[in-house]
Amino acid sequence: MNRSATDSPSPGWRWREHMPLVNTLRLPARSGAALILDRLDADVFDQPAVTDWLAEPTTRVLGGGSNVVFVQPFVERSAHLAADAWWLETQTADRVDLVAEGGMGLDRLVRETSGRGWYGLEALAEIPGTVAAAPMQNVGAYGVELGDRVRWVDAWDRRERRLRRLDRNDCDFGYRRSRFKDEAGRWLILRVGLTLATRPPADWPPVDYPGLSAALEAWQAATGRPPVAMTPLAYADMITRVRLAKLPDWRGGLPGSAGSFFHNPVVSPSRAETLARHWPEMPQYPVSDGIKIPAGWLIERCGLRGWREGGVGVSARHALVLLHYGGASGEGFVGFAREVRDRVFEAFGIALVVEPECLGEECGPIFPQSK
Ligand code: EPU
Repeated sequence: MNRSATDSPSPGWRWREHMPLVNTLRLPARSGAALILDRLDADVFDQPAVTDWLAEPTTRVLGGGSNVVFVQPFVERSAHLAADAWWLETQTADRVDLVAEGGMGLDRLVRETSGRGWYGLEALAEIPGTVAAAPMQNVGAYGVELGDRVRWVDAWDRRERRLRRLDRNDCDFGYRRSRFKDEAGRWLILRVGLTLATRPPADWPPVDYPGLSAALEAWQAATGRPPVAMTPLAYADMITRVRLAKLPDWRGGLPGSAGSFFHNPVVSPSRAETLARHWPEMPQYPVSDGIKIPAGWLIERCGLRGWREGGVGVSARHALVLLHYGGASGEGFVGFAREVRDRVFEAFGIALVVEPECLGEECGPIFPQSK
């Protein structure tokens, strides 16, 4: 591997050695050697030093560290995007097409587009992580998924060593998944093309979600304005208040978290009926592929909300959020998560699936990608 550019950085990319890896769980982690891409133009991908590094399967592509558990505190080789611009491509009376580079924080993009009065991303306010990481697991909140707004994704195909543009349909977006996640290790997402609206949708502002109608009433009481007058930015601010009441601030400090630690399980209608006979108060929501059951409810019903063992615990504010209070190792954290999952399985016979990605040899079978 030619890394002779270490001491003479060339435009567009650079190396960093012994780089601390920020992550919202605040677990200790560091990269032995990191490739950082400052530009994403095609000429950067003409450089063998860049493409060889990316072709190596052990190179881990890392973003904002908001959806990863560092079970092992050391990653030998990594790649990161620093390019973080966004620009408008076209604007018509009712829509805007824009492009965002992968190194940009998703929350910054949400606030900058909402602040211009464009509709479409405001429900995704306060989600940590980068624009490039967002299509990976098709981040979603309050009835909106990023994939709903994507036109295309530009990515470097690490396997075929070429730049690709994937239209939305080729991305195969689903609940917390995409083609990029399914084909783990293949893609380096570079930029995302999005379409937003310049006029509010018919149901504006959408509050058909537990907790949002109360938040809207509080906004009305504070501003004295009718709901329809809410701007996209005011909606983003409302979502921020709702999220901060449940989740720790990902911008810094302890406790650390990776947001929802498990997926909400989807079961068959007949299974849901059996469960409802045993637990009539169990919340159940029909979705396209079955019946969704909130994992937070299952964990709470096991008596685990607020349960803490040393430096790791289940949040007392939201049972689907596991917290790192400091001092825990990645292995200790995963051991605790396994215990939570086992208790839910014993009580309900439902095997929860972990949402974040695991980095390390010791991930174990609770992580789907390590199976
Ligand atoms: N619940 C409990 N106890 C709890 C927490 C939740 O019983 O301690 C039950 C309640 O019935 C509640 C239901 O779970 O109504 C759903 O809770 P919530 O509205 O907080 O949503 P969630 O299903 O837990 C999902 C996403 C979040 C996203 C919110 C809002 C997943 C895995 N999580 O959480 O995403 O912000 O909806 O749309 O789908 C993330 O992925 O990291 C994340 C935070």
